[in-house]
Amino acid sequence: MPRTDIQHELSYFKRFRMERDLLASALPAVPSLPDGYAWVAWDDSLLETHARAKVRCFEGEVDALVFPNLSYFEGCVRLMRQIRGRNGFRPQATWLITYHGEGVATVQGVGDRTMSGAIQNLGVVAEHRGRGLGAALLIQALHGFRSTGLQRAVLEVTSQNDAAIRLYRKFGFRSLKTLYKVMDPVQAIPVPVEADWVL
Ligand SMILES: CC(C)(COP(=O)(O)OP(=O)(O)OC[C@H]1O[C@@H](n2cnc3c(N)ncnc32)[C@H](O)[C@@H]1OP(=O)(O)O)[C@@H](O)C(=O)NCCC(=O)NCCS
Repeated sequence: MPRTDIQHELSYFKRFRMERDLLASALPAVPSLPDGYAWVAWDDSLLETHARAKVRCFEGEVDALVFPNLSYFEGCVRLMRQIRGRNGFRPQATWLITYHGEGVATVQGVGDRTMSGAIQNLGVVAEHRGRGLGAALLIQALHGFRSTGLQRAVLEVTSQNDAAIRLYRKFGFRSLKTLYKVMDPVQAIPVPVEADWVL
């Protein structure tokens, strides 16, 4: 659990910034998905479908505490709009995996001027984990970054998130820095957003 500073009633989540070079070694081929699962490439009409999958992927997870927007649908829509609106948004690194037509895993990618691609909010719905979907999404996003000329992939992960850290290490990510994300417990209470001016 996060360390708490009693005097200020703030919580701190320890996070690792990880990086993987995209040029130094060949990327693994994108794995084929198990029966019933299918890739869906980005299209703007899918924004809410990604948000719906995302809220299920992060339900009960530590990152839904670190980033309260991940814990409810409107927050995920807001996040998706922010990501889609970024100059560096990479449709090629933004994927949904469906299971018999329903979104069960999602990732987004954003590039920047330093030629880095940031993996955003990679997640798999709990009952679909352990089947290689997380690895498939990650590899697909790395190919998407490289196909658009980016030289490295970066991400941040909460230190308690052993499954995600192991996944990232397995595919060549290494920790570069430790960061602390400060949480104000009052601001951490999710507020369903009806209009953009609320905050
Ligand atoms: C992290 C997450 C995406 C992994 O998805 P997944 O589909 O279960 O992962 P995969 O089946 O592709 O597993 C790939 C590798 O990840 C690691 N891994 C996955 N689940 C793990 C677990 N429960 N414990 C330890 N390592 C795990 C392993 O290295 C695994 O390879 P291996 O089985 O050969 O050892 C998934 O647990 C998840 O969505 N978590 C909640 C959302 C989240 O926290 N996302 C990360 C944000 S930074």
